Amino acid sequence: MDRFQEANRQKWNELAEVNYTSRNSDYGVEAFLGGSDNTRDLHKTELEELGSVEGLDILHLQCHFGMDTLLLAQKGAKSVTGLDFSPVAIKQARELAEKAGIEATFVEGNVYDAPSLIDGVYDLVFVSWGTICWLPDIEGWAKVISHFVKPGGRFYFLDQHPVILSFDDHAPAPHAPVYDYFHKPDPISFDDTAVYSDENAALKTKRSYEWTHPVGEVVTALVDAGLRIEYLHEFDTVAWKALAFMEPCEGGLYRLPEGMPRLPLSYSISARKPL
Ligand SMILES: C[S@@+](CC[C@H](N)C(=O)[O-])C[C@H]1O[C@@H](n2cnc3c(N)ncnc32)[C@H](O)[C@@H]1O
Repeated sequence: MDRFQEANRQKWNELAEVNYTSRNSDYGVEAFLGGSDNTRDLHKTELEELGSVEGLDILHLQCHFGMDTLLLAQKGAKSVTGLDFSPVAIKQARELAEKAGIEATFVEGNVYDAPSLIDGVYDLVFVSWGTICWLPDIEGWAKVISHFVKPGGRFYFLDQHPVILSFDDHAPAPHAPVYDYFHKPDPISFDDTAVYSDENAALKTKRSYEWTHPVGEVVTALVDAGLRIEYLHEFDTVAWKALAFMEPCEGGLYRLPEGMPRLPLSYSISARKPL
């Protein structure tokens, strides 16, 4: 693992700690476990697009502490396997599964090493919200995805739109681009103690590194890796307050304030491995 991903891993260990334990976090572990209101679910976008997962073997890459993995299991998946490179998040995922009484397998490792850590192929490979900006090589990622989708199986991907990454998260409206939309091999470095899921929390680890991957490069990498694109949808909503002036809206999502020109804030891809 390069020094950039190693630094990110350290930051994710700390973020997992906050996301899992904070009572104010958007993740809502307590709600998931039924302590307060038991209303925790996937976001509106993937709920509307995913369709039934009943009876499917599912692989969830970059699963964080596995709450979405477990929600997929609760929706009737035959088996769920999650992978993440944060040892803290994987430990929490195993604990959460046990507390919730849900059977799941959680594997610690880098996405790029997944084929040597996880056996088999899957009906559905699921990747969502805040994932590929942490990855340097999109072609390598697409090969890993394709490796795990069984013939006739599906890849579902949902994430922030790279247009968001061209803005400074903390700048006030109106927003103007400050970073390139197009990919560069060197990451953009951020020194930031903010926690995306909890405005009241702050981290000790500041430094992290992100890479932007234009939509065209993501689609092309998936096609080159042997997948057939079923659709690419763009949305004016995203799952966290990605820019300081965004406002919450229905389904656990955020959007730009009323009156501001709409921009693509997230996008989804559904793709299949030909039989
Ligand atoms: C925003 S979270 C994942 C999104 C997930 N939908 C969630 O919020 O529960 C990003 C995750 O990617 C993981 N991650 C980042 N780079 C990774 C890599 N190279 N290999 C595996 N996991 C990685 C982090 O540890 C973190 O848990």
